Amino acid sequence: MDTVMEAELSKTHQLGGSLPPTPPESTLADGDSSSDTTQEFPLPPPSTEPTEVLTVDLKTPDAHVPRDARLIRLTGVHPFNVEAPLSALFNEGFLTSPELFYVRNHGAVPEVKDEECLDWEFSVEGLVEKPLKITLRDLLKEYNAITVPITLVCAGNRRKEQNQVRKTKGFSWGPAGVSTALWTGIALGEVIKRANPHRRARYVCMEGADKLPNGYYGTSVKMNWAMDPNRGMMLAWKMNGEMLRPDHGKPLRVVIPGQIGGRSVKWLKKLIITEGPSDNWYHIYDNRVLPTMISPEESANRPDIWEDERYAIYDLNTNSAIAYPAHDEQLSVACAPSNYRVKGYAYGGGGRRITRVEVSLDKGKSWQLANIDYAEDKYRDATEQDLYGGRLDMSWRESCFCWCFWELDIPVDELKVAKDILVRAMDESMNLQPRDMYWSVLGMMNNPWYRVVVTFEN
Ligand code: MTE
Repeated sequence: MDTVMEAELSKTHQLGGSLPPTPPESTLADGDSSSDTTQEFPLPPPSTEPTEVLTVDLKTPDAHVPRDARLIRLTGVHPFNVEAPLSALFNEGFLTSPELFYVRNHGAVPEVKDEECLDWEFSVEGLVEKPLKITLRDLLKEYNAITVPITLVCAGNRRKEQNQVRKTKGFSWGPAGVSTALWTGIALGEVIKRANPHRRARYVCMEGADKLPNGYYGTSVKMNWAMDPNRGMMLAWKMNGEMLRPDHGKPLRVVIPGQIGGRSVKWLKKLIITEGPSDNWYHIYDNRVLPTMISPEESANRPDIWEDERYAIYDLNTNSAIAYPAHDEQLSVACAPSNYRVKGYAYGGGGRRITRVEVSLDKGKSWQLANIDYAEDKYRDATEQDLYGGRLDMSWRESCFCWCFWELDIPVDELKVAKDILVRAMDESMNLQPRDMYWSVLGMMNNPWYRVVVTFEN
């Protein structure tokens, strides 16, 4: 009975080892044979799904999860918290392969076999007229799927710099706690609508299947955000055309664009509609920027501060990083012709576009404007079409939910004089990356000017 859907899911799962689909054919505008309106948008880099479980994982609860050995483990062997080397991540381009996509797991990965995926069930409960139990099979059958590019960023991205100034309670992310994929799924608001929320409903609480020391992982977002299609919140089962990998929420997760990754609950089991924000331990004691004067010691005795929802973080802040030159890169004096191309990424929060990226070679006294490539716009210009079983149509989407890449050619002679390179970005609301760091106990949202020291080969 469900053979079509089963084939659909298993087919996309196998895509892991195969080539991405061919880009859409170019189309000619009516009556003008000379204008080529080819819609070329980036497709995922070739993905090679690891099949072997790494030896280090064999003695952990994640012994069922094959992984890529290039990922850098930031919290020992387990739980799995990793980022790719920045150059490897950046070299993949706009879309990240699932192999190099950063992972933030608070605990063990729930084991879900391929044949169990369609029966995966989650509930919609709380302040609703019609509580629902929905399987992934139902989602595939009864809703219209969409495919969209979205960048996820861990709130701890770049925390290593904070830990060098003063140790926070968080582990040291470099600048690669950020990745982008084409997500296929259903608009979150569509699902909630069917449960008929009460008038008092204000929040959507989400809970995953991973049981942790303080309960299941969970958090919440505002109900009016979830119901606004422009905010692009979705329930996704595919990433770059493949079924989600175990580390990324197989078989079903929430994806919340423009906000910190911590709101995008993986292995989704419950949507609970409530009047107030989530009371889940992880909503209260994680993903917050407490006032800077609160020390780790003081925070231990101040539940009132933790419970203050004003300190919860949602929208990402403006941020950028330099990928080239890398921190450990030795530039060559013989660099011919005579320019070095400085490159990196930038992202904004809440759907806001990055409007400028500036580079300084004199410690911020003067700045030069870098060129920005907004690859996301290439999808926006694409005509409606089916991609990975979801409709790719971003013509309605005004917001920017992805990172952009920037570059600037700098004469090698100037780099020889400069001791370092600084970068900062600004978004359309003029949110400019600050010069100074805002330290806080959990070490989150670190976004001061990004600096790379320039070194030349002898
Ligand atoms: N969902 C569950 N169920 N458990 C988790 O540990 N981690 C969150 C979020 N969703 C988490 C979760 C955090 S902090 C981040 S940054 C993102 O997942 C990371 O998503 P990724 O691992 O797919 O990159």
